[in-house]
Amino acid sequence: MTRKEPALTILQVSDTHLHAAADSRMRGVTTYATLLAVLEHAQRDPRWPVDAILATGDIVQDESRAGYERFRAVLEPLGVPVYSIPGNHDDPKLMGEILASGSFHLGGELRHGSWSVVLLSTFLAGEDAGGLGPARLQGLRQALAAHDRQNILVAMHHHPLPMGSAWLDGVALRDAAAFWSIIDAHPAVRGVVCGHVHQAGDRTRNGVRFLSTPSTCAQFLPSSEFFALDDRPPGMRWLELYDDGRIETEVAWVRGTRT
Ligand SMILES: [Fe+2]
Repeated sequence: MTRKEPALTILQVSDTHLHAAADSRMRGVTTYATLLAVLEHAQRDPRWPVDAILATGDIVQDESRAGYERFRAVLEPLGVPVYSIPGNHDDPKLMGEILASGSFHLGGELRHGSWSVVLLSTFLAGEDAGGLGPARLQGLRQALAAHDRQNILVAMHHHPLPMGSAWLDGVALRDAAAFWSIIDAHPAVRGVVCGHVHQAGDRTRNGVRFLSTPSTCAQFLPSSEFFALDDRPPGMRWLELYDDGRIETEVAWVRGTRT
């Protein structure tokens, strides 16, 4: 049987935590080096080239202009559109200046065939937790109500479902109940994908796939009550979206890159 081609293929990279200096280390790894290793690995995969790269926040750790410029300089030569949303460590204003022109997009929507990826900011200034608030919730409600696409994937930084890790669930999406009530009202939403949790997750809530994606640098230990690092290597997620609404996805771990 011949395999049908996906309508849309995406590479998700998350929580790159770059710094102004290329050799800055965080939690035992040089975050710039591990991002390079992840992208090199991706380009050797048969799923490359993708239709888009999705960067789900915490792009830069130190809110530096040089960090965002480095992110852009690394991704731009790949020749693939890049869609970003801010995480709690990001500076949305700098992202708007550096990651919102040419093939780089900040927030908004990626429309492709029968699919749309809706990018949702959960950024709250000065907070590690995330939130949508009345204005963003209303925006999401209106965007979904007006939607003409058969299939929708929602991308955000913070996790809208508990990960079973007390410290991490304390910095989750605060208004998750309001978020899910909107999602539940729109049958075209096939999945929700997030970053922030530095670990892989794949489950289904009320018919909607909920995916979390590892960081391109260090990972958090799943199910840990207190902050703890996992020894898993840098990771990324492949997303293959099909016209019938199916999401095929795989997390790829890049071993041998811990520096
Ligand atoms: Fe985060």
